[in-house]
Amino acid sequence: MAQRITGLYQSIRIPSIYKGLMFALGADNAIRRYVNEVLKPTPGIKMLDVGCGPANILAYLPSLNYTGIDLNEKHIAFARELYGSRGRFVVGNAANDLRQDENSFDLINISALLHHLADDEAISLFTSLKRLLKQDGRIVTIDNVWLPRQRTAVKLINKLDSGLNIRTPGGYLELLNGQGFDVQTRVFHDLLRIPYDHIVMIARHGSKQRSD
Ligand SMILES: C[S@@+](CC[C@H](N)C(=O)[O-])C[C@H]1O[C@@H](n2cnc3c(N)ncnc32)[C@H](O)[C@@H]1O
Repeated sequence: MAQRITGLYQSIRIPSIYKGLMFALGADNAIRRYVNEVLKPTPGIKMLDVGCGPANILAYLPSLNYTGIDLNEKHIAFARELYGSRGRFVVGNAANDLRQDENSFDLINISALLHHLADDEAISLFTSLKRLLKQDGRIVTIDNVWLPRQRTAVKLINKLDSGLNIRTPGGYLELLNGQGFDVQTRVFHDLLRIPYDHIVMIARHGSKQRSD
């Protein structure tokens, strides 16, 4: 992963510190709106949360079949302790470790991960996730973004981010190019308590493939 991991940045790998920081910045409102306005999960669906961290999102979801996967075993232990049987929590790499779940997820969520990945890592992650997605399923991503004429404070916050691959909307869309997805995007300027711009991508299997 392309990210800063020294000094203060190291501490956000600790689940309680990461969670405390997110909620101080306004994650409660942000997650609630993201779930209600973007993910819109139907009760009972099968959902995969890639790079789930401490699974903060789970508290905002209806009753559904949740799998969270993360490379960081401390995040997964934290999520298991908090949510126990409300989900399946897996320590692993979403690109390799869920092959048994092919063609089974209605919704695959990727929050705040792409801006930590180099292009080749993100592209191969999407290639793997595509196989896990049902024919009528959705992959939804959310990340911070570079925009033209962006507020100075947002630019500064982006520069301080531990993820070293914040992209423009075109840069994020390129990660999905050639993978056979139909993609919609949406930009939010007000999800957090601090000045911050988010981009959401919603990817579905392309119409040609859906009718195959
Ligand atoms: C910035 S955190 C985001 C956590 C959470 N999704 C959120 O929105 O708060 C990114 C997480 O992705 C995990 N991660 C990175 N690459 C991964 C991969 N290939 N498979 C599973 N987890 C991954 C990291 O360990 C990290 O916990």
